Amino acid sequence: MIKIKSEREIELMRQTCKLAADTLKYIESKLEIGMSTEEVNTLCHNFILEHNAIPAPLNYHGFPKSVCTSLNEVICHGIPNEKDILKDGDILNIDVTTILNNYHGDTNKTFLIGNVDPEIIKLVDITKHCLEESIKVSKAGARLGDIGACIQEIAEGHGYSVVREYCGHGIGRDFHEDPQVLHYGKKGTGVELKPGMTFTIEPMINLGKRHCKLLNDGWTVITEDKKPSAQFEHTILITEGDAEILTL
Ligand code: MF3
Ligand code: CO
Ligand code: CO
Repeated sequence: MIKIKSEREIELMRQTCKLAADTLKYIESKLEIGMSTEEVNTLCHNFILEHNAIPAPLNYHGFPKSVCTSLNEVICHGIPNEKDILKDGDILNIDVTTILNNYHGDTNKTFLIGNVDPEIIKLVDITKHCLEESIKVSKAGARLGDIGACIQEIAEGHGYSVVREYCGHGIGRDFHEDPQVLHYGKKGTGVELKPGMTFTIEPMINLGKRHCKLLNDGWTVITEDKKPSAQFEHTILITEGDAEILTL
């Protein structure tokens, strides 16, 4: 069941999503070579608590930390730890989800650490472009398949591949609500978008093949070919006009 949010709920979504976005801006200003992903976690955790919110990942289905930190070949759900030290040339995705006034805001970005290989910078740029273009097609009357097709066409057009095992999702009182927002698909198919829907789009785009592998920790997802993967995520609101990006 896809929930249509009321005006009151939308206002609460705006607040939590703004905090999630602000958390990413804050951590971006702190990132530096030599820092551990554990430190990234601690800084984000404290920032979210200081703003009277809760980091949604902590204890979510047993996830042990407050944000996901996914380095290089890690596609998603990387677990912050003391051993992963940021080094020159890395790409690091930080995925922040806040709970404020019982509503969730979910956003992530892939950051460049120091001097990154131009081929990998391009992967990151195109992944961001996939998200931005798919938001432009997210208008009332369009269908979920239009979003997936848009992302797949851009990514595959550059010779990249789209991860299929993980997707965007409705969001609100619950972290993951209906619908599932696939990042590949066919135009004109799937559920019709209606004003008041709130969901994420969060394409994971691989430099190499699309296949992934789950590590023994039960969370970390990496590319099977160990080539890098990039991701960007926004929470959006469907309106009568252009979608509103809530996590700006
Ligand atoms: N924030 C992720 C998403 O975009 C989900 C993380 S679940 C966790 O949907 F448990 F790993 F935190
Ligand atoms: Co999400
Ligand atoms: Co997320």
